[in-house]
Amino acid sequence: MRVGVLTGGGDCPGLNAVIRGIVRKGVQEYGYEFTGFRDGWRGPLEGDTVRLDIPTVRGILPRGGTILGSSRTNPLKTADGIRRIKENLAGGGVDALIVIGGEDTLGVAAQLSDVHDVPCVGVPKTIDNDLSATDYTFGFDTAVGIATEAIDRLHTTAESHMRVLVCEVMGRHAGWIALHSGLAGGANVILIPEQRFDVDQVCAWVTSRFKASYAPIVVIAEGAMPKDGDVILKDGTLDSFGHVRLSGVGEWLAKEIEKRTGKEARTTVLGHVQRGGTPSAFDRWLATRFGLHAIDAVRDGDFGKMVALRGTDIVRVPIAEAIAELKTVQPELYKEVGVFFG
Ligand code: F6P
Repeated sequence: MRVGVLTGGGDCPGLNAVIRGIVRKGVQEYGYEFTGFRDGWRGPLEGDTVRLDIPTVRGILPRGGTILGSSRTNPLKTADGIRRIKENLAGGGVDALIVIGGEDTLGVAAQLSDVHDVPCVGVPKTIDNDLSATDYTFGFDTAVGIATEAIDRLHTTAESHMRVLVCEVMGRHAGWIALHSGLAGGANVILIPEQRFDVDQVCAWVTSRFKASYAPIVVIAEGAMPKDGDVILKDGTLDSFGHVRLSGVGEWLAKEIEKRTGKEARTTVLGHVQRGGTPSAFDRWLATRFGLHAIDAVRDGDFGKMVALRGTDIVRVPIAEAIAELKTVQPELYKEVGVFFG
């Protein structure tokens, strides 16, 4: 049996831990051979492969990024994409594919498995933690840790100058990183994409914080938007690679706060720092277990399935079902943290 492995979409700490888990168990317990595909779906599309065996996965557990490279290439949007993938897999003697990715990458795996008879097993990945079928995705814990440390640091500089510090974190559609890091870092305001915010209310919280002699920290997800308009500035709508680019809500809000409260405000955009570097212990643990269970699914011939965390168990769910709905922050949960605002 030869198993292909690819990592697609935005990278995320823990990808290498998954690859290592897959290869170590696959070689040692099942005697499988592996083919790594470079840069997500671009690899199988163009037949671009890389060696993948025990020596190549040695020492990669704590390393961020992915040794296979990643891209947002989508073969369903490429002329003749499915035929080319099938040909390249057959040509390389690849019997099954393990696809590690988010909604987009796994969407292709679901189509290939369910419609085109290409045996795929999915592993969920995103720092955003917004896949509904799994309690957690690896990468999220690392991103929250990085954001929390940044917020801790922002508190001290904000207090020295008695300024407002706005910290913009990732999350276009779901506010999980903002919610968890904001709560862990003791933010005074947390703004998420799921609920439009009222700038005057934010300013009232900021002012009340100053009255209590504290410098306010506002944590805002990049996809959060005010009630009175869509101010998420887009660099064009799509960049030259066809990807949507969000920018500027944190900066925009800081300016509004200055205008409306007369207090000095600064913005820190954490950006890709949240996705880089070594995974946390939790993410290494989860990613490794996902890898071990993904290769078991291949051995069982259980294709079209994605591994997922439910409580402390790893289960298998149909990929198509797993990506059908985004997991967003529910209003009750958001309301719960509101007690700390202001
Ligand atoms: O989905 C993961 C994510 O990090 C989002 O939180 C963020 O909006 C997006 O990817 C950034 O994508 P890119 O790396 O293509 O700029």
